[in-house]
Amino acid sequence: MPTPSIVILTGAGISAESGLRTFRDADGLWENHRVEDVATPEAFRRDPALVQRFYNERRRSLATVQPNAAHLALARLERERPGEVLLVTQNVDDLHDRAGSQNLLHMHGELLKARCLGCGAIHPWPGDLDGTSRCPACERGGLRPHIVWFGELPLDLDRIYDAVERCGLFVAIGTSGHVYPAAGLVQAVAPGTRTVELNLAASRVASAFQEVRTGRATDLVPAFVDELLVRAWHRFIPAGQAGIALAAVGGYGRHELHPNSDIDLLILLAPGTQAAHQASLEKFLAFLW
Ligand code: APR
Repeated sequence: MPTPSIVILTGAGISAESGLRTFRDADGLWENHRVEDVATPEAFRRDPALVQRFYNERRRSLATVQPNAAHLALARLERERPGEVLLVTQNVDDLHDRAGSQNLLHMHGELLKARCLGCGAIHPWPGDLDGTSRCPACERGGLRPHIVWFGELPLDLDRIYDAVERCGLFVAIGTSGHVYPAAGLVQAVAPGTRTVELNLAASRVASAFQEVRTGRATDLVPAFVDELLVRAWHRFIPAGQAGIALAAVGGYGRHELHPNSDIDLLILLAPGTQAAHQASLEKFLAFLW
């Protein structure tokens, strides 16, 4: 039985300690700008120069910030955990990308990309956008930020809901729970799924989570990843039968054991020795079965 997958949803709070402002905290981005003026299709039609300036400023600020320990810990979890880890971010910054996360979906778009108003092509775009910017593909269309504005549909929703509905663990980090559908994803998990919120303060949807841990992301996330990161090779027997779990405990002790398996024998391997033991363990299991 495969190791249960993990889906992680992040919001602006995970980038706050890198120096990027959130939206709704004090001195947040929406303090200085009305959403209606800079983050809707109507705003872009009404005053494209103002909207381009708002995103040009945010795009430029990316050059001055770095991924923090929380971004790096999530990339480590994806690298080292045997089961699937899907990172769904509402953030349009590139800090998860630069931290090394690969199985990553930007559901609200990306600051460093531009979208053609004519052909719809999406291009990497690290520089400023203005009325003279032209689509490199069709060479006719003007360009807009590849950002999902209010009133537009977030990206990759089918893939996100599919992953949320089949995951064994759903974690929300640094998001206030103001904006749907992201804030409602926790309600889409299957019964029995473990749900955890990591946030500076409980979000608007904290009551939907089994577990809420409050604190700074750079403290909470690395510690949580350490708990999860059992370099494990799990072979679980369906519930009701004698079961064996093989786990290379990364020194943390807490196992992510399948909730329905009756484990009779847990074989612990010293970290990093899994490959050396793999062949003999396969023989051992074959002999047992
Ligand atoms: N560590 C952990 N959490 C933090 C930290 C921190 N250092 N700093 C702030 N937070 C938390 C706040 O407690 C809050 O819950 O981050 C959250 C930020 O909330 P918002 O500013 O509402 O940002 P977010 O939830 O990402 O907004 C969602 O709204 O405006 C739209 O498209 C925009 O993607 C954005 C969406």
